[in-house]
Amino acid sequence: MQKEKIRLRKPKPSDLKEFRNVFDDREMVKQLAGYKYPFTEAEAKKSLKETIRLNKKGDYYEFAIIYKNKFVGMVVLEKPTKDKKTFTLGYAVGRAYWGKGIASEAVKRIINFGFNKLRLKKIVADNDEDNPASARVLEKNGFLFLKKGKRKKGKTRKNINILYWERKR
Ligand SMILES: CC(C)(COP(=O)(O)OP(=O)(O)OC[C@H]1O[C@@H](n2cnc3c(N)ncnc32)[C@H](O)[C@@H]1OP(=O)(O)O)[C@@H](O)C(=O)NCCC(=O)NCCS
Repeated sequence: MQKEKIRLRKPKPSDLKEFRNVFDDREMVKQLAGYKYPFTEAEAKKSLKETIRLNKKGDYYEFAIIYKNKFVGMVVLEKPTKDKKTFTLGYAVGRAYWGKGIASEAVKRIINFGFNKLRLKKIVADNDEDNPASARVLEKNGFLFLKKGKRKKGKTRKNINILYWERKR
């Protein structure tokens, strides 16, 4: 994709409508901890407010992904280790924008930020085995597959396979 097509910036209160549009999607939130469907306006407001608060607090770096001047998703470095040298990566792109290389490019940028600005040693990530697009985004960004694990998920507490990944500086 053409690089200038996306940019990352800090989320802001005026993102609310597009933020909710992106995350109010059953298939999408199935893959994400901390979101549930449906995503009401009140929940979206609370969630966005919390994101902005955490960004200000520190040790939490979440960016809005802007594509053609529209808010289309989020990418985050969070959950630092004690020494703050390893963070966990997360990302999501609204369904209307899938398959355009947006997540791959956003991950590339936040990794550069993590290694160059935050001087991290390692970035880790995990995804459900039934989410091959997510695994592909990690592979394309040089993440190494470490191991498979299990996690109980959703209301049914069904055991699902999780893939664990890491990328070192
Ligand atoms: C996973 C997700 C972020 C991908 O976003 P995206 O912008 O569509 O990703 P990209 O276009 O950059 O890349 C997707 C890659 O996966 C591939 N892909 C898509 N569907 C696939 C499938 N079913 N099987 C295998 N590969 C698949 C694409 O072909 C592409 O790879 P390529 O560039 O080699 O062709 C997006 O689907 C999403 O937000 N899903 C819901 C939330 C989520 O799963 N977040 C990650 C949690 S771990």
